[in-house]
Amino acid sequence: MTEPPRPPHGPVVHDWAVGPLPGTDFDPVPYRLLHEEPVARIRLPHGEGHAWLVTRYEDVKLVSADARLSRALTVGRPITSTTPHTLAPAGGVGRADPPDHTRLRRLIAPTFGRRRITELREHTRQAAEARARVLLDTGPPADLADDFVGPLSATVVAELLGVPAADLGRVDTWRAGLLAHDTTAAAGESVKRQIAGYFADLARHRADHPADDLVSELAAARATGALSTPELVSMAVMLTLNGLDAVRNIVATMAYLLLTHPGQTARLRARPAGLPRAVDELLRFIPQRNGVGMPRIATADIEVGGVTIPEGDAVYVFYPAANRDPAVFTDPDRLDLDRDEGPHLAFGHGAHYCAGAQLARLEAEIMLGTLLQHFPGLALARPADTIAWRTGSVNRGPEHLPVTW
Ligand code: HEM
Repeated sequence: MTEPPRPPHGPVVHDWAVGPLPGTDFDPVPYRLLHEEPVARIRLPHGEGHAWLVTRYEDVKLVSADARLSRALTVGRPITSTTPHTLAPAGGVGRADPPDHTRLRRLIAPTFGRRRITELREHTRQAAEARARVLLDTGPPADLADDFVGPLSATVVAELLGVPAADLGRVDTWRAGLLAHDTTAAAGESVKRQIAGYFADLARHRADHPADDLVSELAAARATGALSTPELVSMAVMLTLNGLDAVRNIVATMAYLLLTHPGQTARLRARPAGLPRAVDELLRFIPQRNGVGMPRIATADIEVGGVTIPEGDAVYVFYPAANRDPAVFTDPDRLDLDRDEGPHLAFGHGAHYCAGAQLARLEAEIMLGTLLQHFPGLALARPADTIAWRTGSVNRGPEHLPVTW
């Protein structure tokens, strides 16, 4: 006699294939879950088993601020994930818990402090003006992603860390290898070794020849025993990847959205003081990444949105979905550059809140402000639906952004 089917253990597990998405379309899987099953079990293309996905604004805040969820415990576990290899290295700030996490964040705090940000603001402004002049002198068309946003974000992160301009090409090749979804685990490890070797050498050099940059500060901290070499390398890699890739993609997407919402952009041009608010709305609206980032492990049974997540399970929060929660944002799928709701969660929440949020905001404001000011007739050089978008990589953004003026 056959046994009757047993009731399923826990809720259904949803497959999230993380397919290619055009433009700024929201991924249908987390979108549906936000509206239908805000605390759900998912299986991503790589890794093993299932994890929980939390999508509602208040639940996402709760989970990301709850110290009973650990990042350190993810190290060495084959958790279901978007990429075949783990992007964030063990020892990195993203995968540490207190007290290590607190120590690492303290070490980089001066780098993102008022003095350094003021300097960077001025240098970024000068660099953006200079780039704009080159484009104006050369004449249209131009690629805003490759000829404006990309090089500017690279300049900023190079200055912040102290990466010589001549090395940026190499670093950018490693970035592309590390962030591609089809990079195998072995290839990912090889790229990580190369980039780790590069930053270890740079830190050795800066230990003997210190300059006013982050790698010099970290090298000095290492000399006192305040951090280890793997921690130093992980920090440098994390900051480089974010500074190069996240900013390039998101600011290029912001420019695309301004160009495809001409009415709202005309109002913004007429009232430049509205730019910081517009940047925040763009951050809220843009689904910045393919798939979902770093999980946490529940160290106790944790109740979220009426569901008990058992101790030992992996949990993801999806910040872009929280930013579309209708309980917090009116008509959340509409871009509204005058919106005054939130705050959005594009930079995360809790202890792991983005260390570069202030820097990213200032880069976006300066780049978009410079474009609006110097290019009154700026327009896409091709129909919006023919723009190619990066697929198969962690951060979403246009391959190129051809414009004319
Ligand atoms: C618009 C661009 C950016 C966006 C949307 C963004 C967003 C995020 C998000 C969502 C997190 C993860 C929060 C979590 O783990 O729960 C994060 C973490 C982080 N970001 Fe950013 N980021 C951006 C730019 C930058 C820049 C420019 C830097 C520095 C150069 C940076 C440095 C970091 C670091 C170090 C962390 C890890 C913090 C920790 O785990 O304690 N980010 N960012």
